[in-house]
Amino acid sequence: MAKSRGVVRRVTSLMVRKDGVKLLTMWMAMVVAALPVLTPSLFSASSWETSLFSEWEPPTARHGALLDSLQKTRLLETEPEGLWDRPDSGGWMPCARREEESSRPAVSNGYLQVFLEGGLNQQRMGICDAVVVAKILNATLLLPHFDVNPVWKDSSSFADIFDVEHFLESLKLDVEIVTELPREFEWSTREYYATGYRATRVKNAPVQASPEWYITNVLPLMQSSGVVAVAPFSHRLAFNDLPAEIQRLRCKVNFEALRFVPSINRLGNIMVERLRQSQARNVDGDAKNPKYLALHLRFDKDMAAHSACDFGGGKAERLALAKYRSVVWQGRVSNALLSDKELRDKGKCPMTPEEVGIMLAALGFGHETRVYLASYTVYGGSARMEFLRTLFPGMNTKHTLATAEELQPFEGKASQLAAIDYLVSLQSDIFFSASRGNMHNSLAAHRTYLNVRKTIKPDMNLMARLFTNNNLTWPEFRRSVIEGHRNRMGQVTLRQPTQSIYTYPAPDCMCTTRRSITEI
Ligand SMILES: *[C@@H]1O[C@H](CO)[C@@H](O)[C@H](O)[C@H]1NC(C)=O
Ligand SMILES: *[C@@H]1O[C@H](CO)[C@@H](O)[C@H](O)[C@H]1NC(C)=O
Repeated sequence: MAKSRGVVRRVTSLMVRKDGVKLLTMWMAMVVAALPVLTPSLFSASSWETSLFSEWEPPTARHGALLDSLQKTRLLETEPEGLWDRPDSGGWMPCARREEESSRPAVSNGYLQVFLEGGLNQQRMGICDAVVVAKILNATLLLPHFDVNPVWKDSSSFADIFDVEHFLESLKLDVEIVTELPREFEWSTREYYATGYRATRVKNAPVQASPEWYITNVLPLMQSSGVVAVAPFSHRLAFNDLPAEIQRLRCKVNFEALRFVPSINRLGNIMVERLRQSQARNVDGDAKNPKYLALHLRFDKDMAAHSACDFGGGKAERLALAKYRSVVWQGRVSNALLSDKELRDKGKCPMTPEEVGIMLAALGFGHETRVYLASYTVYGGSARMEFLRTLFPGMNTKHTLATAEELQPFEGKASQLAAIDYLVSLQSDIFFSASRGNMHNSLAAHRTYLNVRKTIKPDMNLMARLFTNNNLTWPEFRRSVIEGHRNRMGQVTLRQPTQSIYTYPAPDCMCTTRRSITEI
């Protein structure tokens, strides 16, 4: 009771201070957001419900004029036709390694061990490469070791995230994989390699090394010592000039052998179900299977500081980011030499949550759109998210979709939480990522592989130009965004020679209805 009286007072005082139309929309947004969209008990676990009421201190909108006019017209606009449709697949279908091309060498040349750094998606690529390098060397692969990430501080192992049994079963005809080394090599542990020079460790694998490099530099050592540890191993296998069946093995690992453990799958699927079952109006007015958009936002302090852009948080924010730069990079951030305007003109500033919201609205996503927010932390916290939430009150996170008890086993485990986000994003009708990192690339690839699901790839340069041009009216802005993204909806684009097979799965992992491109 006390809480709701406070809300009314606050809203009233805002009403007096600011212009009526905008406030009315915000007020409506707050009311809609406060409705128990899901069951009341789930909703009370939400972390952003409280932030809406208790931390209502809007940061300055960088694009106030756009926000104003979009909020005035938005409720009258209808969604463009085909907004939720899948792009034309062009006849492309999944085509990973087939059983008949699988063969396992009769003798193993020794054991291959790798230590994988980075977050979930970087480790995922490392696993695929490790299987393939073991194949190239006719080696036996030890289940890859995950290093603790200095940023996310997650000590989850392979088996905490991926279903080991399924992994071994899927690849049993291709590569021998073991979960532990035999007794005679028990000494070859992560700790052993951490404490000094070791003859059985290969430290100098070049980035995008060729198969021949492994045959020349790793195989002899493996044959003489029985075991070799390759670390660092991230991005240590080329994308070019590999036999087609080797590429297809990479695809098979990535899209078929890697499956999350049942506990992650279970919670992810429950969350998808709740998103789709929620009572909120959806675009088709179809309450049984509402569509949802998964939004991946990466807007953390590290990234904000490194970009050296001004994000509208005022002097305190500018000083905080400058301090972070001086501590972490000792002032060696070349962007910091440019003005905010120069950076924006060059398209070097990541989109803020506010800009992401405006862009989605420009594409035609209405107020009632179900949004799943896949994010770890957002720099600036709930205040930074306010405009986006006002535009999309039907926004959900893990915390609004799952209870505290359901999330408890994953608490503090960044990679496992990222796996849940991955699963919910993979199954979404539309995936939109505001940054081109590993999460974006992995999901874009996986969604292409699975039937060419819609994935919106923002054109950062275009968006920067549009956001710095203060002369544009909302209809002009809207038209430019829609035009500029017509061909960025997840249509199949073929991998170019230097590009990653983990971002562009066609043609290596896919065939057209007629035949595989690689056979043409
Ligand atoms: C691996 O085994 C296959 C046959 O099973 C053989 O043709 C190939 O040369 C071997 N490669 C290496 C590096 O031992
Ligand atoms: C905005 O309009 C003014 C006057 O019409 C023009 O001089 C200016 O170049 C325009 N700015 C942009 C960014 O288009």
